Amino acid sequence: MRTVDLIQKKRDGQELTSEEIQWLIEGYATGSVPDYQMAAFAMAIYFQGMSTRETSDLTMAMVASGKQFDLSSIEGIKTDKHSTGGVGDKVTLILAPLVASFGVPVAKMSGRGLGHTGGTLDKLESIKGYQIERSEEDFIKQVQEIGLSVIGQSDDLVRADKLLYALRDVTATVDIIPLIASSVMSKKIAAGANSILLDVTVGDGAFMKTLEDAEVLSRTMVDLGKAVGRETIAVITNMSQPVGRAIGNRLEVLEALEIMQGQGREDVTHFICELAQIMLQLAGQEQDLVTIRKHLVDGQALKKFEEMVTYQGGDLEDLYRPSSADFVTDILSDDTGYIAELPALEFGLFAMRLGAGRAVKTDPLDYETGIVFDLKVGDKVEKGQRIAQIFSNEKLSTNLITEFKKNVKIGEVEVHPKEILKIIT
Ligand code: URA
Repeated sequence: MRTVDLIQKKRDGQELTSEEIQWLIEGYATGSVPDYQMAAFAMAIYFQGMSTRETSDLTMAMVASGKQFDLSSIEGIKTDKHSTGGVGDKVTLILAPLVASFGVPVAKMSGRGLGHTGGTLDKLESIKGYQIERSEEDFIKQVQEIGLSVIGQSDDLVRADKLLYALRDVTATVDIIPLIASSVMSKKIAAGANSILLDVTVGDGAFMKTLEDAEVLSRTMVDLGKAVGRETIAVITNMSQPVGRAIGNRLEVLEALEIMQGQGREDVTHFICELAQIMLQLAGQEQDLVTIRKHLVDGQALKKFEEMVTYQGGDLEDLYRPSSADFVTDILSDDTGYIAELPALEFGLFAMRLGAGRAVKTDPLDYETGIVFDLKVGDKVEKGQRIAQIFSNEKLSTNLITEFKKNVKIGEVEVHPKEILKIIT
């Protein structure tokens, strides 16, 4: 076989065989297929798409490109969760310990943020000492002992995705359904959990911009999971505004703590309880929302989170430390009305410019910077009222403040966006 022939075949809109896909992915993972040819292949997929069978073959070829975790020594139904990315998305920080506080083992591998989207690993690393790199043995031992671990993707797991995701990021081939589905599901399958909750984000701040595309992506991933015997549910969630109040690593950890002390905003708290209910159902537990919320209010989820932080080397005193950003700028409203729009993409990019996110993989992060909103879409606002605070390590220019305010849209009508738009089982 020759790589160039396979690129040409896909470029011309033909279907590749299972053997061809396996050969290509194996070659890429082992170095015989170079980046430039894989980039051309990804672009051919971008324009020609893939059939269901091809996407499934691609996913399984990626799984086979590295090690697979065997979680069978952990008792019970192991659960995992993955978000397709968003702004202010600290859901894992709360959801994972919340579910684990019901005795359901949560074994989760998370990723880093890139561009306008944040990553759970970066948020956890804003806690002094927190170790995201663990061996398979340590990961399993921790889940056996405390029922919860959130770690980084190990180097030898789904090697092809590690390489391909970095390549897609710099070749404008991220936002295409077969490549997202195979990337997410290869990691979930290789990581070994029995049940998987997929949080498929849609809207301005997400890779999927329309509900129709989010539905196709969800259906594709759910089918991939089910085909290999994993209980999989996709929840399509709204990413037209940031999740919760905070964007930025330490600021999001602080918001997560607030929610786990029962003091979070009602909308995000309710949303996380709903996700927890689905994750618990996947693991065979029926719990009502009142009981689930109780685990947030009475500190059971927080206790689990603290146990995990301690187990993974994190400093509990540092966990509760406020942001040490040098400047905190209040943003006051120029109008009276209702918050009508807070475009997630714009604020994600804004936070990135403050140092909270990376433009390229090698960029260092400033964990302390970001944005905390006092008000979200649907909230009433008076002229002169504080809408948000910006945490920065450089004094903000007037232009930057004006730019921030331009993105806060105020209207006369009270609109309350739904958080969960659809569930695909
Ligand atoms: N998250 C992933 O893990 N992969 C993608 O391709 C997109 C989001």
